[in-house]
Amino acid sequence: MPLNDFAKQLIKNFPLGFVATVTEEGLPSLSPKGTFFVLDDDTIAFAEIRSPNTMENLKHQPKVEVNFIDIWLRKGIRIFGGTEVCERGTDEFKQIINLWETPFPALAPRINAIVKINAERVKLISTPPYDDGISEEDMIATYKQKFAEIYP
Ligand SMILES: Cc1cc2nc3c(=O)[nH]c(=O)nc-3n(C[C@H](O)[C@H](O)[C@H](O)COP(=O)(O)O)c2cc1C
Repeated sequence: MPLNDFAKQLIKNFPLGFVATVTEEGLPSLSPKGTFFVLDDDTIAFAEIRSPNTMENLKHQPKVEVNFIDIWLRKGIRIFGGTEVCERGTDEFKQIINLWETPFPALAPRINAIVKINAERVKLISTPPYDDGISEEDMIATYKQKFAEIYP
């Protein structure tokens, strides 16, 4: 299912995705990855730097769900799909690593692999106040104020 413009822009603006995997015991495991990029209409990817449990989980169940949220707009996306791990040293890793090298020069040497996710299902999600008719402008204004109180 191709990523639409909203999904692509959201990941560009908020590249912090929460990645859900499943442990060997069948338990949920969720951890954040702040290095997401859209590779093409059907593929997103993050850099594996320090995610041993996620990588272990992908060996027995190579599927993930990832959530991205615009915390001001209170809208987001859920992406579900299969994964493919491009290990450092492979031709494919060499072809795509430049995407991460420019924005993350200090982290780039510590990237062990790029984890690609094929977006099989993409779902838009929004906070319930939108059901009552709140506008996007009001939502953004509300959360700008809330965050300004936390970090004036
Ligand atoms: C905001 C944030 C962004 C992060 N981004 C990444 C990332 O892009 N790649 C990565 O490997 N680890 C990243 N981490 C670190 C992992 O989430 C962290 O080491 C975690 O404990 C790994 O758990 P796991 O092995 O269950 O995935 C990030 C952590 C935070 C708090």
